[in-house]
Amino acid sequence: MDEHLIATINKLQDALAPLGGGSSSPVDLPQITVVGSQSSGKSSVLENIVGRDFLPRGTGIVTRRPLVLQLVNRRPGINKNDDLQVNKVNDKGEASENNLEEWGEFLHLPGKRFYNFEEIRDEIVRDTNAKTGENLGISPVPINLRIYSPHVLTLTLVDLPGLTKVPVGDQPKDIEKQIRDMILKYISKPNAIILSVNPSNSDLANSDGLKLAREVDPEGARTIGVLTKVDLMDEGTDVVDILAGRVIPLRFGYIPVINRGQRDIESKKTIRDALRDEANFFENHPAYKAKPQFCGTPYLAKKLNTILLHHIKSTLPDIKMRIEVSLKKYQQELNILGPQLEESPTSLALNMITNFSKDYNEILNGEAKELSSHEL
Ligand code: GDP
Ligand code: NA
Ligand code: MG
Repeated sequence: MDEHLIATINKLQDALAPLGGGSSSPVDLPQITVVGSQSSGKSSVLENIVGRDFLPRGTGIVTRRPLVLQLVNRRPGINKNDDLQVNKVNDKGEASENNLEEWGEFLHLPGKRFYNFEEIRDEIVRDTNAKTGENLGISPVPINLRIYSPHVLTLTLVDLPGLTKVPVGDQPKDIEKQIRDMILKYISKPNAIILSVNPSNSDLANSDGLKLAREVDPEGARTIGVLTKVDLMDEGTDVVDILAGRVIPLRFGYIPVINRGQRDIESKKTIRDALRDEANFFENHPAYKAKPQFCGTPYLAKKLNTILLHHIKSTLPDIKMRIEVSLKKYQQELNILGPQLEESPTSLALNMITNFSKDYNEILNGEAKELSSHEL
């Protein structure tokens, strides 16, 4: 049931993508939006949650379009129409190129499965350039990527361009404002959960990402904090005060993590090794070893999954109503335009939303049953 709920929201996200995605979508979808300064560790956090290297890396603004990343937990062999799933994880715990149990699919390349995660990275770069031109500009049109794997928790995350100060090359002079505005569009929607990524080796009070989050969520009611680079803190300092809510309190709290540093990436340290070292660090560090179960990437992923599910459940009735309203509106638009525009974005969106509504109603009915049986 729970997995179905997120899967259903994923379908709706796809349905609305032709209309310009999250930023101008008629329905405010529950989703987790990643916000932070450039180099705060956003990409590293996402890769650690997925357990695979697949995001473009580099200096400057690498993320120039929103990436809607839909993680789908999929147990091998659960779908009988699929090929036999063979576990081909090698001795380093990484999937080999031909591992058939984990793959990515882009909304803009329907039906094409990417088993090689380097090709996923290449496609993100290619499609980013195709839609933003060569001058390193940004675009609000999202890239929708779905990753199926038995090693992920079902979860949807939106990666946004990092906050930056200085334009590079012939980037638009107002790039800082453009990025800010794009982030604000995503995070000001009441159903957005804000994942605020902050490096522990600089002052939380000066974090641009957290400042922006607090502009739209002053109470910290829908913001969750991630503290990266805990390994780079000066000796004798720690994030215990932040975790205890004594600095800038957030309803969902903060989770400290350790990602791979630049040197680790150059020496091709695997994510599996990084996750093991992360666990060791928190288990042995004097400041964290009393509560290591509340630290690190696996706890972060679990917590995000739980928060998203609760959030989806509590927003279901409102979403249902809005979908019905948009369905009517698109149907009327189409009736006015006539049948010749079969392939128009509106028409495509309408088809997808119609299909979605069917699934959705089934789930809602199941949900209602579940609720009433709890009451008994
Ligand atoms: P983004 O710009 O926010 O996506 O940041 P990246 O994930 O690309 O990280 C920026 C740089 O910081 C990279 O060189 C990472 O290797 C490094 N980095 C990120 N998180 C950590 C961490 O927890 N510890 C260390 N030592 N380095 C990190
Ligand atoms: Na970066
Ligand atoms: Mg990045």
